[in-house]
Amino acid sequence: MAEIITNAELLKLAGEAAGKAYCIYSGFSVGAALLTDDGRVFTGCNIENASYSLTVCAERAAIFKAVSEGYRGFKAIAIVGGENGDLSQPCPPCGACRQVMSEFCDGGFKVILTNGEYTLDELLPVRFEL
Ligand code: THU
Repeated sequence: MAEIITNAELLKLAGEAAGKAYCIYSGFSVGAALLTDDGRVFTGCNIENASYSLTVCAERAAIFKAVSEGYRGFKAIAIVGGENGDLSQPCPPCGACRQVMSEFCDGGFKVILTNGEYTLDELLPVRFEL
């Protein structure tokens, strides 16, 4: 049986991922740890680019890693981020990442921040879907 992973453990993994952020333009590092339905964790960090709009957020990096490895069902994501390595303040996901979450996750998907947890329904109550 898969081990239960706590919010604190997922936040710790997100913090480790933030340490790998490539954020030489903003100095704002973000890390995400995505929990699959079967208890695996995929992490991601933000990856910036000199052509700024090509930057990929940490959350999408984690989701795309998991989806490209064949995973489609997700329970939760922990996110931490901040300037100059200070990850203590909550770092809510941007709108684009919420929309990408909504592609693969149902409304009960948990988004875990340093100040508590939210559901995707709370963060994106009126969703665009095809
Ligand atoms: N960023 C993320 O990684 N996730 C978000 O949800 C919001 C912003 C990154 C993008 C950029 O590298 C830096 O944070 C500052 O915007």
